Amino acid sequence: MTELAIYPLSNEHKMIRDAARDFAQNEIAPIAAEFDESGEFPLATIRKMGGMGYMGIEVPEKYGGSGMDTLAYVLALEEICKADASHGVIMSVNNSLYCHGIMKFGTEEQKKKFVTPIATGKAIGAYSLTEPQSGSDAGTMKSRAVLEGDNYILNGRKSWVTSGPVADYFVVFMMTSPDKKQKGVSAFMVEANAPGLTRGKKEPKLGIRASATSELIFDDCRIPKENLLGREGEGFKIAMTVLDAGRIGIATQALGIAEAAYEAARQYSVEREAFGKPIGSFQGTGFKIADMKTRIEASRLLIYNAALAKTQSKEKGGRYSLEASMAKLFASETAMYVTHQAVQIHGGMGYSKELPVERYFRDAKITEIYEGTSEIQRLVISRSEMGLK
Ligand code: CAA
Repeated sequence: MTELAIYPLSNEHKMIRDAARDFAQNEIAPIAAEFDESGEFPLATIRKMGGMGYMGIEVPEKYGGSGMDTLAYVLALEEICKADASHGVIMSVNNSLYCHGIMKFGTEEQKKKFVTPIATGKAIGAYSLTEPQSGSDAGTMKSRAVLEGDNYILNGRKSWVTSGPVADYFVVFMMTSPDKKQKGVSAFMVEANAPGLTRGKKEPKLGIRASATSELIFDDCRIPKENLLGREGEGFKIAMTVLDAGRIGIATQALGIAEAAYEAARQYSVEREAFGKPIGSFQGTGFKIADMKTRIEASRLLIYNAALAKTQSKEKGGRYSLEASMAKLFASETAMYVTHQAVQIHGGMGYSKELPVERYFRDAKITEIYEGTSEIQRLVISRSEMGLK
C-alpha cells in the first residue's frame, strides 16, 4: 500500500491500520478459504473483531464503540477485506448500515438498547430495505406497518438481507402510508425474536460465501411503537442517508479485495518465468500491473475523500452522496478489473482453488451490485451533477 502524499496519516490512524492488518493476516487470512468453501458464518472471529472495537469504530465510547472517525473505519476495514471480504461485509453492515443509522436518527434509549450490543461485538445487526419486487427502486416497497394501540404490526417479505440468518437486531423499512410513496416509508428496529418474524432460506452465492444472506418474513409481526426509528414517513430519507455511509464501506471492501489480488499478481509476475524471463518483464503483463496499481490508488483517493466528506458533514451538515457514490462506483469496477487481470496473470493457477485469486475474483462481483448497483451510482452522480431527474 502506498502512503498518500495528499493526506499523510496521523499516528493514531496508522496504529489502527497496523493493528487491523496484524489481526486480519494472523486470524482471518488463514481461515478464509475454509469458510468460503463451507459457507459457514465465521462467528468466532466476528466476536473477536467486536472485542477489538471493529464493529462500532465511529460509535462514541459511551455506547460501547471506539469513538474514532470515518477514516479510521476505512483503514481498518480495508485490512479486514484484504484478508477476507466476507468478514469485511459483516463489519461494514454492523458499522455503517446498522450503527450509523441508529446513532444519527435514534433516541437515547434506542442507542443504548440497539447500538451497544453490536458495537461491543456481543450481537450482530442487519439492514433490511430490499424486497423481491423492489431493489433499485427502493421506494416501491410493498411491506406494510400499521399502528395498533401500542404496537406496530409488520407484514411483508424482505430479501437479500446481509447477516439475515444470524442477526440479533434489524433496521427494517416498511410502508406506513402507501399512498404517499417514498414519503410513506418508515424505519423500525426489530429484534430477531419478535413474534411473527421468521428468517427465509439462506441464499447460495457466487462469492462472499461466509457472509450469510437471507429473506425475512413478517407475518403479523408485533413490535412496540417505541421501536419506530425517526418519525413516521422519514424512512426513505433514513434509508438513503444510511446507504451513503454504507457505500463508503463497500468501496473500501472493493479496495481491500483489489489490493489482495494485486499483491498476488505482482508477486507472481516477478517470480514466474516464461520464455526465459519473469512474465512481468513482458509488456503484456507489465502494463496490466501498471493499470491495476493506478486504479487502486485512484480508488483509495476517492474513498479517503468520501470518508473526509462524511466526517465534515457531521460537523457542518450537508450530504456526501456524490463522494460516496463516486468512491463506490470506481472502487468496485476497479476490484472487478484487478481481480480479472490477476486471474489472467496467474493463468491456470488463477483458476485453481489452491490459490485465493479465484476467490478474490468471485468476491469482487458483489461490490458492483449491493448497496446500489453501478448503474444506481451513475444515476446518483449524474443527477447530482446536472440537477435533472
Ligand atoms: N440522503 C438523504 N436524502 C435523500 C438521499 C440521500 N442520499 N437520496 C434521496 N434522498 C431524498 C430526496 O431528497 C427526496 O426527498 P424530497 O422529496 O424531500 O426532496 C427523496 O429522498 C426521494 O428521492 P428521489 O426522488 O431521488 O428517489 P428515487 O425514488 O428517484 O430513488 C435512488 C433514488 C437513488 C434510485 C434510490 O432509490 C436508490 O439509492 N436506490 C438503490 C437502493 C439500494 O442501494 N439498495 C441496496 C439495499 S441494501 C443491500 O444491498 C443489502 C444489504 O444487506 C447490504
